[in-house]
Amino acid sequence: MKTLIIHFSQTGNTLRMADRIRDGIVERTGRCDVMAMRDVEAGSLEDYDLIGFGTPVFYFQEPFHVRDFLKALPDQKGKHWFLFGTHGSMWGTMFLSMADILKGKEAEVVGYHHNYADAFLQFYPYPFVTTGHPDEKEIEETRAFGREIPEVSRRIAEGDRSLIPQPVSCPDLWKWVAQGFSPEVLSQLLPPLEIDLDRCTECGLCQENCPVQGIDIESNPRRLQDPCVYCTYCITVCPTCAIGGDIIDLMAALAPEFAKHYIRNLENAAAEGKFEWKIDPASIDFSDNLFRQRERKLKNRP
Ligand SMILES: Cc1cc2nc3c(=O)[nH]c(=O)nc-3n(C[C@H](O)[C@H](O)[C@H](O)COP(=O)(O)O)c2cc1C
Repeated sequence: MKTLIIHFSQTGNTLRMADRIRDGIVERTGRCDVMAMRDVEAGSLEDYDLIGFGTPVFYFQEPFHVRDFLKALPDQKGKHWFLFGTHGSMWGTMFLSMADILKGKEAEVVGYHHNYADAFLQFYPYPFVTTGHPDEKEIEETRAFGREIPEVSRRIAEGDRSLIPQPVSCPDLWKWVAQGFSPEVLSQLLPPLEIDLDRCTECGLCQENCPVQGIDIESNPRRLQDPCVYCTYCITVCPTCAIGGDIIDLMAALAPEFAKHYIRNLENAAAEGKFEWKIDPASIDFSDNLFRQRERKLKNRP
């Protein structure tokens, strides 16, 4: 069985899980290739029998360019796929939506796996409530998923359709929120990003790391958010905090309210034994966020 894992990962959580799933698969089958989504050409999937796909959750759903990638795939008839992801506390419609797209391509989705993971969001304080995740137990569960998935795929291929899982679902409220966070709504809701030219050193990190090539720092005026998936990763990677603007203050003002939902969901997960607190939510100081912490460090640097 030839297996490939494709991933999109910005802050490394999903990539770490991809590597653990690969370890589990290699234990069972001896080989598993891993590829970043940006390096995948549609034709390169033809050789594989089982394809895993991993992504973070953005705005209660799969990132918009991930959705576009899946939608652009050629027919997947006869292929088995599995889906995995990382998130803070709410995975939203991600699995329902991705499974739906793959079903439309006639792929069979034979497994789902997801992990709580750290969120390096500039508008939240750091550490935040899921810092410390995935922990050792969750990493081992991820490896175990990798060990099991080739056998599940083999048995389904042999005709045991009882093993085909339902996509990981979510509460109706999350579906409603995911629908609300469309690219059109986000473009209206979020203040445009701004570049502070006095701080920008033209290092190019924002441009290199934009998942949709929406930045050109050499053009005049600089091209920003054209296109944009609202991942805000350009803010995160900029070493001089040159990218920001009103979005930072708006999101920071909303953060305590968002966090209440985050925390409520984690409390529910903890009550079901699916999440273990590493950080006391009462210790989170909302008066300071990661962006401001980084700005302060820069100012204090000799
Ligand atoms: C723009 C953005 C939106 C996010 N939205 C959600 C969300 O709706 N629900 C959630 O639980 N986590 C959300 N997160 C947290 C990420 O899903 C989480 O940090 C993930 O593990 C990042 O994966 P990576 O390290 O592979 O990039 C969001 C993160 C970003 C950057």
